[in-house]
Amino acid sequence: MIAAIDGPAGTGKSTVAQRVARSADLYYLNSGNFYRAITWYVLQQGLDSEDLTAVSAAARSLSLDVWSHGIVVDGKKLRRQLREESVDANVASVSSSPEVRDIVNRQLRRISRNRDVVAEGRDMTTVVFPDADVKIYLDASLESRARRRYDDLAHSMPLAEVQERIAERDKIDSTKPVGRLKLDPSALYIDSSDLTINQVCEIVLHAIFSAKTKPSTGAIGQS
Ligand code: DC
Repeated sequence: MIAAIDGPAGTGKSTVAQRVARSADLYYLNSGNFYRAITWYVLQQGLDSEDLTAVSAAARSLSLDVWSHGIVVDGKKLRRQLREESVDANVASVSSSPEVRDIVNRQLRRISRNRDVVAEGRDMTTVVFPDADVKIYLDASLESRARRRYDDLAHSMPLAEVQERIAERDKIDSTKPVGRLKLDPSALYIDSSDLTINQVCEIVLHAIFSAKTKPSTGAIGQS
């Protein structure tokens, strides 16, 4: 079972995917964490995150894996490093490299080969798992996403600035040449602006359980 969830920043994708993973006994795969881990490494090496030749060479040299709280880079377990401000500021550039995307996508598919997973990001439904059993596009208005992020940050930044930053990320996410965020026509579209996290989880779980119990069509008519 592969459940793929895409959507812009601040829709609650990670929270929904983690809760759904627990309820449906699926492995939670956060694709953004891979881009964050590579970005962290690039910065550690003193490389310029906009020098995509150097970035992709660095990404090629790495061993990447997952652990329960993040990503393992060359044997080092990363968790809080993935959320550092410098990583936030440079990850969009790193994730715009087609070669880096290819490296990450191969890892995501490898990890999912022998597991039932719920994978979240920007191109899970379109590029990485186009044949996923369940595809979800989780959306919300810019205002409600900004409000949620503002609450998460305990109001440490003005609401207008939070909204501006999210709008900037939307622009980068939806205009990058490879792996940009788009709505897959076969995905279930959920606008969570006026829904609670629990309501969104219920909708996603319903889709997963329906897919699990759907009779396989492959055998019909075969002799
Ligand atoms: O979901 P996030 O904020 O942790 O993602 C970090 C960055 O990686 C963000 O710039 C979007 C990008 N990303 C991507 O390009 N493709 C994905 N599948 C997941 C994240």
